[in-house]
Amino acid sequence: MDTLLIKVIDKNKQVQELELPNDPAYSLMELFRACELPVLGTCGGMALCASCHIFVHSATLLPPMNDDEKQLLDSLPNSQENSRLSCQIPVSENINGLVCELASE
Ligand code: FES
Repeated sequence: MDTLLIKVIDKNKQVQELELPNDPAYSLMELFRACELPVLGTCGGMALCASCHIFVHSATLLPPMNDDEKQLLDSLPNSQENSRLSCQIPVSENINGLVCELASE
């Protein structure tokens, strides 16, 4: 599979359908930035800033959270059960069909 289709609900509740390259060298956060979505990625993907926080709305099987991701999400006032850091999600065909929402700051 060369490309992945995902849907992103932006901060204005608009749904954007993205066709992304299936390149495991990138994280989901990096592809969001490449698509010019308003995701800062301030810490460069080190699970330190939460600027890449998303809510996952699909039943997509994602890799389990590591301790750093869990700790940062636990510290956020707007964290939910379906919260993830997109910088901690590697690009792979597993995320094809993902539906997610960019968290408001
Ligand atoms: S880019 Fe900083 S936590 Fe994801």
